[in-house]
Amino acid sequence: MTAFFEPARVNAGRLPGPEQNMEETAATAAGRRKVHVKSYGCQMNVYDADRMVDVLAPQGFSETERMEDADLVILNTCHIRERATEKVFSELGKVRLLKARRAAAGKTTTIAVAGCVAQAEGAEILRRQAAVDLVVGPQSYHRLSDLVARAAAAPGVVDTDFPTEDKFDHLAPPAPEAIRARGVTSFVTVQEGCDKFCSFCVVPYTRGAEVSRPLVKVIAEIERLAAAGVREVTLIGQNVNAYHGAGANGSLGPLLRQTARVPGIARVRYTTSHPRDMDEELIAAHAEEPALMPFLHLPVQSGSDRVLAAMNRRHSGADYIAVVERVRRARPDIALSSDFIVGFPGETEAEFGETLALVRAVRFASAYAFKYSPRAGTPAAEMADQVADDCKRDRLSRLQQLIEEQRLDFNRALVGRTVEVLFEKSGRHPGQIAGKSPYLQAVQVAGPTTLIGEVAKVAITGLGANSLFGQLAVG
Ligand code: SAH
Ligand code: SF4
Ligand code: F3S
Repeated sequence: MTAFFEPARVNAGRLPGPEQNMEETAATAAGRRKVHVKSYGCQMNVYDADRMVDVLAPQGFSETERMEDADLVILNTCHIRERATEKVFSELGKVRLLKARRAAAGKTTTIAVAGCVAQAEGAEILRRQAAVDLVVGPQSYHRLSDLVARAAAAPGVVDTDFPTEDKFDHLAPPAPEAIRARGVTSFVTVQEGCDKFCSFCVVPYTRGAEVSRPLVKVIAEIERLAAAGVREVTLIGQNVNAYHGAGANGSLGPLLRQTARVPGIARVRYTTSHPRDMDEELIAAHAEEPALMPFLHLPVQSGSDRVLAAMNRRHSGADYIAVVERVRRARPDIALSSDFIVGFPGETEAEFGETLALVRAVRFASAYAFKYSPRAGTPAAEMADQVADDCKRDRLSRLQQLIEEQRLDFNRALVGRTVEVLFEKSGRHPGQIAGKSPYLQAVQVAGPTTLIGEVAKVAITGLGANSLFGQLAVG
């Protein structure tokens, strides 16, 4: 399964084929340029990367997988933990050398830093790495063409404003051939930002206040995707189940139901959710909508009520377990995943033990665990009793071991069963195709590429390190 946070999969799930050839409206042959976007962080950045490419397409930019061929390099960054941020600066060191090599060959390169580090660090990025031409925050992507032109003329442009207009209204819709090139699954951002202010987290500062898109606009986007062959959409947001867009009755439930009704859409998912926002309408959708896949990523962070309170999560361990029980009553086969932070300031061994106990009580199909990373400007970074790194490392490995045992148990339980698989791409070996089970496990089978985009029954026959193996079931 794809790691949630470290470098995001920009091209995963895309169909094989020639490089995208987007429609050029304003472009002349001389104006044809290439852009390479390298994304880190969460699904929001994966979605944003495609939007940036779409915005630039009418200016004559086409996407390239090879950074060294790019006239415009965009690092689409993540600020969630210190390591994520530092990775950006080490990557920028390499991109600077690339820019120098290309300059020696008479080619100019524009370097842009986008995403959450851009939002958080702003002009500081230009001071740390002079080769950067443009710093652009996530709320300004609809202005990207203009910003790139300005940066090419006079490097050192910074735009990290939170504009009042709805950026989604100004983002270019992708051309059908661009949608097709991206494969049969797609993310769709339905809300952005967060008002929860967990004491460890930078997201409310980098993505701003919670904003939901109107239901009709989201559905229109999904209809366009489906018309171009998309079969599965994952509705995404930093706090996706806080969705309250116009026309949705204050819940994500109605939007999920309408998404499931769009002709061509076979599967619907959503991520990432907060336990406090699992409302009745959303849980009812799990009971009643077969297209809503039985997999829920529901971060809990800790099993200790004292730590949860210090994290400002505003739920207890028992609240979380009660939510899980309600969801399981609605959809008994639902598989759960979560996020955990170990070594939050003041976390004792006994409190960490409560996290292990919660994991044992819930049983997860998968989960991500992180060492607490102090982030400047967040309340937890100022707390006394910061936990020593070797203690964090020890707790992380113990928690990861337990999570891995549960993941293997979950996968093993599927061997011998038949599940539906949506095929997304060619497999690792010739004659193989790869797709996903309802529970988001990767599945490999021998089969024709004509099945890509189809849902078919697969008998699961064995386990690999990161995927399941199976055979197409007859009938
Ligand atoms: N909106 C989601 C997740 C956002 S960030 C939610 O509310 O759960 C994704 C994950 O990164 C979080 O769930 C948390 O586990 C982790 N994370 C966030 N800030 C962190 C920090 N300062 N140190 C370590 N992990 C962190
Ligand atoms: Fe961060 Fe908490 Fe908001 Fe999630 S809910 S994005 S962890 S502040
Ligand atoms: Fe990272 Fe920003 Fe996503 S900080 S996790 S890219 S919202």
